[in-house]
Amino acid sequence: MSSTENFINHLLAQMTLEEKLGQLNQSYPHENFDPELLRQGKVGSLLNASGALTGQGFSESSSAEVCNHFQRLALEARLKIPLLFGRDVVHGYRTVFPIPLAQAASFDPELVEEAAAVAAREARAEGIRWTFAPMVDIARDPRWGRVAEGAGEDPLLGARIAAAAVRGFQGNDLSRPDTVVACAKHFVGYGAAEGGRDYESGEMSEATLRDIYLPPFESAVRAGVGTIMSAFIDLNGIPATANRRLLTDLLRGEWGFDGFVVSDWNSVAELVSHGVAEDRAHAARLALYAGVDMDMVSGAYLDTLAESVRNGQVPIEEVDEAVRRILRIKHRAGLFENPYTDPQRAARDLLTDRARQLARRMACRSMVLLKNKGDILPLQNFRRILVAGNFVHARGELYGTWSPDGRAEDATPLHEALRQTAPRGTELLFALNDDRAFHLAHRADVVVLVMGEHPIRSGENANVSDLGLPPGQAEFVEMMAGLGKPLVLVVFAGRPLAITRQVALADAVLYAWHPGMEGGAALGEILFGQESPSGRLPITFPRATGQIPIYYNHKNSGRPVSPQGPFATRYLDLPSTPLFPFGYGLTYTTFEYANLRVGSEVLRGAIEVSAEVTNTGSRSGRELVQLYVRDLVGSRTRPVRELKDFRHVELQPGETRRVTFILREEDLAFTRADGTRGVEPGTFHVWIAPDSQGGLRGEFVI
Ligand code: BGC
Repeated sequence: MSSTENFINHLLAQMTLEEKLGQLNQSYPHENFDPELLRQGKVGSLLNASGALTGQGFSESSSAEVCNHFQRLALEARLKIPLLFGRDVVHGYRTVFPIPLAQAASFDPELVEEAAAVAAREARAEGIRWTFAPMVDIARDPRWGRVAEGAGEDPLLGARIAAAAVRGFQGNDLSRPDTVVACAKHFVGYGAAEGGRDYESGEMSEATLRDIYLPPFESAVRAGVGTIMSAFIDLNGIPATANRRLLTDLLRGEWGFDGFVVSDWNSVAELVSHGVAEDRAHAARLALYAGVDMDMVSGAYLDTLAESVRNGQVPIEEVDEAVRRILRIKHRAGLFENPYTDPQRAARDLLTDRARQLARRMACRSMVLLKNKGDILPLQNFRRILVAGNFVHARGELYGTWSPDGRAEDATPLHEALRQTAPRGTELLFALNDDRAFHLAHRADVVVLVMGEHPIRSGENANVSDLGLPPGQAEFVEMMAGLGKPLVLVVFAGRPLAITRQVALADAVLYAWHPGMEGGAALGEILFGQESPSGRLPITFPRATGQIPIYYNHKNSGRPVSPQGPFATRYLDLPSTPLFPFGYGLTYTTFEYANLRVGSEVLRGAIEVSAEVTNTGSRSGRELVQLYVRDLVGSRTRPVRELKDFRHVELQPGETRRVTFILREEDLAFTRADGTRGVEPGTFHVWIAPDSQGGLRGEFVI
């Protein structure tokens, strides 16, 4: 037996039932919190060590002193088991990176890993040992506010980003002083909430669950994630927090996960509202039996499980197993040796120049150029530029949802950042979205509109029924476009917005998401051409809200859209295609794909697929080359395309490079009609493509 397991068993043998239940209890320092509970060993973890709710807006950060204070109390308890301090460190801590959806648009897992490592070091400097991230929920409905927190719609991209984030947060040794325990959330299917209404129920087939929603979680587990959070959702009639088949049989049984599961906020007690539990005691029994080890703040475990054990409703082994898992992670995290945090660290570790540079690079890499008529961008031939819109003075507004530890004053206001990055001799005029903008526009050579969603319009429970720009903004774009000046639209948002009309009106459209604290400088560098945009859409952009759900890896149906016909699947009032497909994005040069080569006609084990990519423009550029397949016939219907790999290439003007992918047989496995997973023989199409719609197509058989 390993030394960790010995240690745990030894400790467990000394614990009373009350002390065990204490370990399963996560609390937070709310108004009525009694610190005496710590001395009594009744709290295993503290959340948001010094704040209240962190989802929206800024909140008081943790600090080494505060954590050390609580830790000291916990270590006065009989068995001296240290507290695990958890917090939502979602896309940065003090250094705020772009929102996770934007990070996914970089299609750059290495960058994601670096950003997570910075966040880990900073959070750790203030006593945090555990982050409730990465959020790895697949989202096919951008009305859902939490689409901002994940990697979008694709299981492969989601899986790569999930693993990268876990590696970044946890490093390769959790006991190192610059790591935090990660938590893949929200297990599982949370993004399928009906109507995009957060907390709503959802339904999906087992095959969709396995092939689309589970891969990012499995990837996080393979990357060694220490914890998993159970979701709020009632999926297929079983609330995720009470789903033993998923939390135990699949997660532990099939995947071999040996960390612990924490519930979401109060989701144990909420089993009563779901209508699967009669009362909190019943809820606690259901959740524990399902495999939820730690109860986030509901108190149901602490208050009721002792009685349930005593009256024989809960076997003590179930409690022991949960305690064991929690102690295992605490031990791995080095908490027993190093329970405290050096208060000097923060000054040294927070907001370093290197961290800010990384945040800027990530912001540059995540912005997506959607349109650039007549190569109006970069803005090089305009002397007088009007920048107008509700984001013109943005600072904290650039950060996005879940950035409680950011400080608005750390960001250069957008207008200031643009001034700093503009080439000499450029005259910048600024206005909000008001009449002044209209007047100044007459004097300008080009108009840049910076608009979109305030961060509180995305994130937890910030759902919208209308994916158009926020009220009033469409009219403003219309008015400015009416002036007939060249028009550039920059959109800040936590989700894909249905901006069909605005894309038609503007000459260029750049999607900036919520780009984090270096977003202003990154935007300037892209607008003025010091950097070229290279982000790609990690999620399909709909033409209108009514097109939701629309995603690239859909099934063909019996009456597919192409060839167009009256009996093909369609809307009467909209084209069937999205506004922009998954994987799409332009840059300041152009690329051509040629000479696709498929290594052999028959795939045995693996196959090489390659194509030549040429930079046909006049600037150097970075292209995201994407590999897609389609399994033409299956025992269960197959998606029209599935992303299987992607790679960036940097090419000088005129340069050509052959990009080679290896496709392995196991990459083609799926959930078959009989419920088993595997590959089926037959013909496959394969594309090397610049996005999920175009590209060069080849073929092979298995
Ligand atoms: C959210 C989680 C979050 C938790 C702790 C919940 O409301 O759903 O994502 O980690 O709060 O703040």
